[in-house]
Amino acid sequence: MHNGKLKAICAWHELQAVPYLTRPITFKGRACSALIFLFDNQAYAYVNHCMHMHRPLNCEQDAVFDETGQFLRCSMHGFIFDPKTGECQSPVCLGQRLQALRLQTLDGVVYFSEKHLLLIAEDTP
Ligand code: FES
Repeated sequence: MHNGKLKAICAWHELQAVPYLTRPITFKGRACSALIFLFDNQAYAYVNHCMHMHRPLNCEQDAVFDETGQFLRCSMHGFIFDPKTGECQSPVCLGQRLQALRLQTLDGVVYFSEKHLLLIAEDTP
C-alpha cells in the first residue's frame, strides 16, 4: 500500500551494489541533496550537509565513509558521524546531528517517507 508521502529512490539491490547514493531533493522547501546508504543491512538517509562549514560530506572526495567503514566522514575536514544516528563524533560539533530522512522499503524498493521532501528529477536543468 503506497501513500502520498512515499517517493521511490531505488531498488534495494541497487543500494547493496554501491557505498552510497545521492539524490537531489528539496526538504522543507530547501534544495539540497540526500545521502542514502546501507549500514548493517539497514537503509539510512540524511540530508547531505555537514553542519561544520555547510558542505556536502562528499564535497572533496567521492566517499562518505571513513577507512574503517564504521563512520560517516565529511571529506572537507574529516569530521565523523555515527551512521545510525547521524550524530557528530568530532569535538567541534560533538552531539550535533545530520538531518535524518525517513525511509521505507516495500517490495524491494526503497522510498523516502517524508511529507516535506520532493525528489528533483536528475535531468532538470
Ligand atoms: S565542513 Fe564537514 S568537517 Fe568541516
